Amino acid sequence: MDIYRNDLVKLFKNPHNFGTMKQADITIDDVNVNCGDQIKMQVKLDKAGKKITDIKFVCFGCLVCVTATSVLTDMVKGKTVEEAKKITMADLQKALNIKIGPGKFNCINLGLNALVGGLKKYENGSKK
Ligand code: FES
Repeated sequence: MDIYRNDLVKLFKNPHNFGTMKQADITIDDVNVNCGDQIKMQVKLDKAGKKITDIKFVCFGCLVCVTATSVLTDMVKGKTVEEAKKITMADLQKALNIKIGPGKFNCINLGLNALVGGLKKYENGSKK
């Protein structure tokens, strides 16, 4: 699969849910230890703290990282925390219609790891 397909390049240039929010319930900063690229993700939950009502991200990373995080944020908006934690790298590859090699695993997982790590920390009582 060509990771530089036109639709993916278009999404990379204009990713969904890109940006920041003023009052997030969860803010996560993470880094890809392989390349040093960074991500910030912010999540807003419903009053019960069970459902994701909004999500934003800013990513200084490659096409795989940005597009995967864009589709991830679309996937989890409106989902419960429990549903969001079950999303896998395979789900992201399927949503993007790409199959990546091990060299890009950290790229496709950067947003997913940030989100799941942030949700788990929130559940354990830490908002950051
Ligand atoms: Fe850094 Fe992909 S090369 S996130």
